[in-house]
Amino acid sequence: MIPRLLEPLAAALPAAGFMPQRASSVAGNVDRVFGFIFWVSLAALVLILVLTVVFVLRYRVRSGRTAPEPSPSHHNRLELLWSAIPLALVMIIFGVSTAAWLDMIEPATGPDPLRVQVTGRRWSWWFDHPGGRGAPELHLVAGRPAVLTLASTDVVHSLYLPDFRLKQDAVPGRFTRMAFTPVLAGNFPVLCAEYCGTDHSRMLATAVVHPDQASFDAWARAGAGEALSLSDLGKKVLAAKGCLACHSLDGTPRVGPTFKGLWGREEKFADGTSAKVDENYLRESVVKPGAKVVAGFANLMPPVPLEEREMQGVVAYLQTLGTAP
Ligand code: CUA
Repeated sequence: MIPRLLEPLAAALPAAGFMPQRASSVAGNVDRVFGFIFWVSLAALVLILVLTVVFVLRYRVRSGRTAPEPSPSHHNRLELLWSAIPLALVMIIFGVSTAAWLDMIEPATGPDPLRVQVTGRRWSWWFDHPGGRGAPELHLVAGRPAVLTLASTDVVHSLYLPDFRLKQDAVPGRFTRMAFTPVLAGNFPVLCAEYCGTDHSRMLATAVVHPDQASFDAWARAGAGEALSLSDLGKKVLAAKGCLACHSLDGTPRVGPTFKGLWGREEKFADGTSAKVDENYLRESVVKPGAKVVAGFANLMPPVPLEEREMQGVVAYLQTLGTAP
């Protein structure tokens, strides 16, 4: 209910041209939080300025009044009021921003989101799309949920999509994630929002949102096959590093768990804990295999040093092997 009440406040800013259009499923949520804080701050500013002027005029030194007027030491009702109103305001901010945040970290992506692997490097972005095509622009489909997995080959970058109201750091040595549904077809600016050196301000790209899947497929086909796709690279890495000797692709358990249906599975460990298999779990399992030993298997695997791109390839390839139900 509260988000609906806040919508007129939020919508006024983009309507007046102060903010770009709302091009993603999460943009409205962000605007409502921002709009509420903006208008509350503006109201507080006006109230404080008006009261300042009123008090300065009313209580100024005048002939015949040189000492301060007597005033009460406290005023219960007034003090309760100026505590309760800010409390209510920050609770509203807490409520709507938490709801917006939950929607961003665990969105309704459906069974088949468009998965894009994003690489930040000094000083450009690179996007590897499903179907194998890599490009300096981000390609998405209007209405189809997208999950972006971000990595960095050097320093911290931050993928910033103002029209989508989204920003996420790309951090060396780990994966981060961004999930949303683009709702408008068109071209939108992509920026880097974390100072990363000399050409930080030139680390620009474009997000191309295709009107439908057919348009995306036609684009992906046009450029596929020119270079090794990320998931093909991952497949090659698994074979070259000997991973497939212990991890099968067909569901058979060997020395280690099978890769089939591994992505997204709730994995149980020897110490009784469990975790969902995601990109950071996979990274840890490669560089620190002993950190989480899957129940029923021995702690035998040596750490396997991989280049960042090889790591992204392994994640992309395991995503193609299906998700356990
Ligand atoms: Cu990359 Cu700033």
